[in-house]
Amino acid sequence: MYQRNPMGHLNFLDTTPSLPFLPLFITILVASQIPLGCTREAHSSNFTCIESERQSLLRFKDSLTDESNRLSSWTGGDCCSWKGIGCHRTTGRVVTLDLRNLEQPELYEVYNTSYHCRSCLAGDQLSPSLVNLTNLRYLDLSLNNFSGIQIPTFLGLLKDLRYLNLSDAGFVGEVPHHLGNLSHLRYLDIGFSSSNNIPIDNNLRSNDVGWVARLSSLEYLFLRGVNLSNAGDGFLAVNMLPLLKTLDLENCRLVVPHLLHVNFTSLSSLKLGFNQFLNPTLPPWLRNLTGLQDLDLGANNLDDKVHDTFRQMTSLVNLELEGNHFDTSTLRSICNISSLTSLDMSDNELQGSIPSEIGQFPQLTLLGLSNNRLNDTIPSSLWQLTKLQELYIGENALTGELSEHHFAKLRELKRLYISPNLFSLHVSSSWVPPFQLQYIAMASVKIGPRFPNWLRTQKEIEALNMYNASISDAIPSWFGVLSNDFRAIILSGNKLEGSLNSIISAADADKKVVQMLILLLNDNHFTGSIPEDLCKLKTLIYLDLSDNHLSGRIPLCLGNLRNLRFLRLANNSLYGQIPGSLGNVGELIILQLSKNRFDGKLPPSMQNLKRLQFLDLGENRIAGTIPAWIGERLSDLEFLTLQSNNFHGGISNTLCQLPYLQVLNLAHNDLSGSIPHCFKNFTAMESTKSGTFPFSNESYLDPVLQIFKAGIELEYSKNIDSVKSISLSGNNLVGEIPDEIMGLVGLQTLNLSKNHLNGRIPKNIGNLKQLETLDLSMNELRGEIPPSLSSIYTLSFLNLSYNKLSGPIPSGNQLQTLNDPIYEGNIGLCGKPLLNSCPAGESPTENGPVLDDKGHSESDFSWFYAGFGPGFSVGVVGVVGILQFKKSWRYAVFKCLENAHDRIWVMIVLKTSRLRRNFH
Ligand SMILES: *[C@@H]1O[C@H](CO)[C@@H](O)[C@H](O)[C@H]1NC(C)=O
Ligand SMILES: *[C@@H]1O[C@H](CO)[C@@H](O)[C@H](O)[C@H]1NC(C)=O
Ligand SMILES: *[C@@H]1O[C@H](CO)[C@@H](O)[C@H](O)[C@H]1NC(C)=O
Ligand SMILES: *[C@@H]1O[C@H](CO)[C@@H](O)[C@H](O)[C@H]1NC(C)=O
Ligand SMILES: *[C@@H]1O[C@H](CO)[C@@H](O)[C@H](O)[C@H]1NC(C)=O
Ligand SMILES: *[C@@H]1O[C@H](CO)[C@@H](O)[C@H](O)[C@H]1NC(C)=O
Ligand SMILES: *[C@@H]1O[C@H](CO)[C@@H](O)[C@H](O)[C@H]1NC(C)=O
Repeated sequence: MYQRNPMGHLNFLDTTPSLPFLPLFITILVASQIPLGCTREAHSSNFTCIESERQSLLRFKDSLTDESNRLSSWTGGDCCSWKGIGCHRTTGRVVTLDLRNLEQPELYEVYNTSYHCRSCLAGDQLSPSLVNLTNLRYLDLSLNNFSGIQIPTFLGLLKDLRYLNLSDAGFVGEVPHHLGNLSHLRYLDIGFSSSNNIPIDNNLRSNDVGWVARLSSLEYLFLRGVNLSNAGDGFLAVNMLPLLKTLDLENCRLVVPHLLHVNFTSLSSLKLGFNQFLNPTLPPWLRNLTGLQDLDLGANNLDDKVHDTFRQMTSLVNLELEGNHFDTSTLRSICNISSLTSLDMSDNELQGSIPSEIGQFPQLTLLGLSNNRLNDTIPSSLWQLTKLQELYIGENALTGELSEHHFAKLRELKRLYISPNLFSLHVSSSWVPPFQLQYIAMASVKIGPRFPNWLRTQKEIEALNMYNASISDAIPSWFGVLSNDFRAIILSGNKLEGSLNSIISAADADKKVVQMLILLLNDNHFTGSIPEDLCKLKTLIYLDLSDNHLSGRIPLCLGNLRNLRFLRLANNSLYGQIPGSLGNVGELIILQLSKNRFDGKLPPSMQNLKRLQFLDLGENRIAGTIPAWIGERLSDLEFLTLQSNNFHGGISNTLCQLPYLQVLNLAHNDLSGSIPHCFKNFTAMESTKSGTFPFSNESYLDPVLQIFKAGIELEYSKNIDSVKSISLSGNNLVGEIPDEIMGLVGLQTLNLSKNHLNGRIPKNIGNLKQLETLDLSMNELRGEIPPSLSSIYTLSFLNLSYNKLSGPIPSGNQLQTLNDPIYEGNIGLCGKPLLNSCPAGESPTENGPVLDDKGHSESDFSWFYAGFGPGFSVGVVGVVGILQFKKSWRYAVFKCLENAHDRIWVMIVLKTSRLRRNFH
């Protein structure tokens, strides 16, 4: 945010507290000609404070909860010497009250759901005694936790205020219009910054921002994240402020009109990211802001048909245009603004080659062109940008071989994001790069086959992503995760070999406090066992060792990784019992241990994993009954897959206590008894909406879900939150198919095959309008095929073979065109597509083609044979729709994060510039 760092690029991983706005503070006070008596720590004064003010402060303190005793100095007579208080030099009156919370927790602490901010001042009612500090000019309550209370209206009585900062302090509700009475106010911040680690954001709205127009002295206004979607033409109120220098309306959902006259011509910083422009073309009034240095128009779906709006904005220094529809000609026109030090055009419609004019920015330190459609090789001029610190050109189709000489002049480079593209990196094994990188994202760049030796020279790496980088090598001994300051390592999808010992252990392991958050080594060729040293990485949040050749048991000490939220060890050769100590990892959301050789019963301690949403233990040798605690305690479960194990006994009603369950896979066990009627309680399956499962859009970060679809087992990792499926195939289930299942209208897959189910197929099976795969084969079902089955247009795989069904195959739709093996082994069935026609009186409609709702004739379904049923096409549209939706949604979600628990995704995605800006 502006006041903490004029560049606005904060290091998300940086844990040092940001400086308070000292320079600005001084400017404001000096400009207001307040003689500085004392500020917080400096108190060389010979006056004592005014007694009534002292009383007011004490009363205010009494209304606060101060767990960490930050206000311990608030005793004794001289309130001017108390921490956070500043008094006027001659009158002794309190002019400053600065209670900003400067403590920053470590990231891994914040991700823990039980994180509690001790250093935050809190309180559910702030004492109005503050009003007695009639000379108060500076009030800062930011970064505390006044969670759930409104901004007190009495603040509007502090008529002398020049500076008011209430950001990230948990205030909620309507912003009181009383703030509009603060006619001397020069600085107002009630927004949220998201650049701090403390997961406390405001949740404010203003339905009428008329009060803003009355703040006629205002120079700095930050309303970031305040919901102004009902504020109508609120922007006009802001336009009444002639002295405004900085305006931050990012993510306010405000309608930005085309102004006929701009008042705030002295603006130097304007942030309008994530709003809604009345007109998708760039507003012409921007050109009148001749002194503008920082401009943020990100995520507004803007374009620039004229291509010359920026040409005239020659004072710009930082320009953020990501998430719009600008094209390469706009980029060309921007290339004339030689004063730029930071340009971000990620997520736009840039295509073709990067224009060679890009070299015309001698001062450029940040260039963001990620996620466009750029192709061709990188122009040589780009490599001449010697001041570059951050280069983001990932997610394009850029090609070429990158070599040492390309990077030769980029001495300042700190963050390099070039993945994925079609690059290969060819450097000699003795290359010593001129830079020291902190973040490296080179996923899908061809770097191998050898492990890159030059990494050895990089002493400041915090995050390394070399997913799918064609490395087939052992990890060299110098690359120990413990001997570096790594926070994140992603080396998935290579052919790394050898034991994990080499990567985990290092000589000085015990001396370091390692704060590793993410370790993804999945999909490699690692062998040996899981080293106990891994348990030293106590701050790990995400650990993925799946798809390797690991053997042995899970080390008991893995249970010490209390912050883990994602643990995947799937598809190895691990064996033994699942250790009870895993039950200590109470933050786990995803646990995937499938495709190993685990045996024994599930440890009862697993019932402590109350946050689990994804539990996959499929394809092991786990025995026993399905424990009741799965339903009773793991009530957040959305995905439960226990298939291909040795579970026996009945399916207990306790499972029905899982309202969020959207995938239930118990296939290929030894389960007996009947299917519980209470399956109707799976309310998530009643809905066609996607679940809430955290997704990342990165294939290597999401768990892989195996789903029976179109007759085969498919592996899904994208959009698994939209999958709804029940599979109980290959057990010994008896009894009828409960009618209640037909209420789960969101189901896409229902696989009950290979059991001993009897009775009839429920008549109302046609309710399952989303069904794509229905397999009831190899049971003992009798009676007719319900005609309603033919009304499921999405059905692309059907198998009813080997039952005792009889009567005509219902006419209409695809049922008669689907291939006949699906009806095989049912002696009593007749009619098309079978060869035996039905006895007279039993035949389906035979007078011409049957039209479905959409007017297709039967014969149109010939493409069904190719496997492209309507389900398929709907599916594709659906998926594309979701992807497109999510692209824009990504901004919304990531920018409005309400708590730090979601920020983990942001950090590991490390991807769009927008995220970078707010969260690094
Ligand atoms: C405060 O102390 C200064 C010297 O340090 C002296 O000149 C001044 O008169 C004192 N003021 C009061 C109000 O005692
Ligand atoms: C903020 O305060 C609320 C209400 O007291 C509390 O529930 C919440 O946990 C607090 N947040 C943090 C991060 O301490
Ligand atoms: C303000 O001060 C007056 C005395 O100066 C006192 O009577 C009153 O209670 C104070 N008000 C508050 C809100 O503390
Ligand atoms: C510009 O500001 C002045 C003074 O605040 C106000 O009177 C005028 O209406 C404003 N003009 C517009 C177009 O808002
Ligand atoms: C921009 O400035 C020009 C010339 O100074 C003026 O004519 C025009 O009205 C201004 N436009 C707006 C929107 O203020
Ligand atoms: C690069 O993209 C442009 C515009 O989309 C296209 O016309 C051109 O054929 C592409 N070039 C290559 C080499 O793919
Ligand atoms: C199903 O849901 C209902 C209402 O939510 C609840 O009363 C009932 O106990 C649930 N059934 C089972 C078997 O959990």
